[in-house]
Amino acid sequence: MKLSQRILGIEPSATLAVDAKAKELQSQGKNVISFGTGEPDFVSPPAAFDYARRAMEEGRTHYPPTPGIPALRQEISSYYKRRFDLDVAPEQIVVGCGAKPMIYETLAAIVDAGDEVILLSPTWVSYIEQIRLVDGKVVVVDTEKTNFQPDLSAVEQAITPRTAAILINSPSNPTGVMYDAETLRSLGVLAVKHDLWFIWDEIYEQLVYGENRHWHPLQLMPELAERLVTINGVSKSYAMTGWRIGYALGPKEIMSKINAFQSHLTSGATSVAQWAALGAMRESEADKQKMHEAFQARRTLICGLLAAMPLVSFPEPQGAFYVFVNIKNCIGKSYKGQLLKDDIDFCAVLLEAELVAVVPGSAFLAPGYLRFSYAASEEAIREGMTRLRRFLEQIT
Ligand SMILES: Cc1ncc(COP(=O)(O)O)c(C=O)c1O
Repeated sequence: MKLSQRILGIEPSATLAVDAKAKELQSQGKNVISFGTGEPDFVSPPAAFDYARRAMEEGRTHYPPTPGIPALRQEISSYYKRRFDLDVAPEQIVVGCGAKPMIYETLAAIVDAGDEVILLSPTWVSYIEQIRLVDGKVVVVDTEKTNFQPDLSAVEQAITPRTAAILINSPSNPTGVMYDAETLRSLGVLAVKHDLWFIWDEIYEQLVYGENRHWHPLQLMPELAERLVTINGVSKSYAMTGWRIGYALGPKEIMSKINAFQSHLTSGATSVAQWAALGAMRESEADKQKMHEAFQARRTLICGLLAAMPLVSFPEPQGAFYVFVNIKNCIGKSYKGQLLKDDIDFCAVLLEAELVAVVPGSAFLAPGYLRFSYAASEEAIREGMTRLRRFLEQIT
């Protein structure tokens, strides 16, 4: 039977594919160390369970209001006040089934067929496919040669009369780098000058390390308010990936359209999961802090071990839980007679030889790199890095 061109053009998520492969090998009894997955390995905070349990007991199992339960929208509004001193009315917030669908719904609200959306590469896999799913055109501005920071003149050159939006993610998946205040302001100036939407995905904003500071663009440029849609959620900061709760916030007009779209798509996010997210956001500051400390320690550990290895280099991650490692010195060489033609080959041979799973940079439009997620225990990081070192030492 015929399938649509739209769906035939879609590539499955490479990060989820690596994870599935690692799990398959694990189920065969193989001792795989996976750096593939982009999810915290912690249990969700107790308050999430408490609120979810109570919601079930109280019978909160019917359709929720499509844009989200009022208490959660109010909590998100309060959070943006506390965190960034921003006034965001609950009517400017739509809660959905994860940040991922909120990005999709936002794109659907902005992009007409053939409209262009600018991404900075390396870029997260799902942006590319989602833009295609709304019949938009992906326009990529590469940041590899500028230390993964955008070259603003290159961004401006990429803007055409068909550009509808620029989609920015900081801290970045996959590089872990962040954009500083100056860079954000300059991107904001471009958005205003060329009348573009500014889609701002800050899903990792609470996972920032050391002296680095995460800015919300509206703190720097309040005049962006009419064109800025923010994406956030509880998946990463609260170890709540499976509950599937994310949200978008922006000007009332677009948010009411996003809500209308959502009303036909999912009828809103799972009621019990919304209560769980509320519990986490209200009452798990200490749990969040503990997870943050663990990530910080893991980051120090993995960066220290990687820095001592031959053939590889990487920018120190400032946020999120990824290290993006340059393996170009290995490409074209061999491991025990097996040619490492590119990063995809490298990952396949590494998995086969040492049972270490990582995601090839090609999945993020950055061939020649590997993304390591350090959302793994310190023990797994040590063992995985021992195996990686052994692998690298045998490349000739
Ligand atoms: C940059 C970025 N945005 C959004 C998401 C999606 O988050 P959620 O699990 O809330 O859908 C991810 C998850 O990997 C991500 O890396």
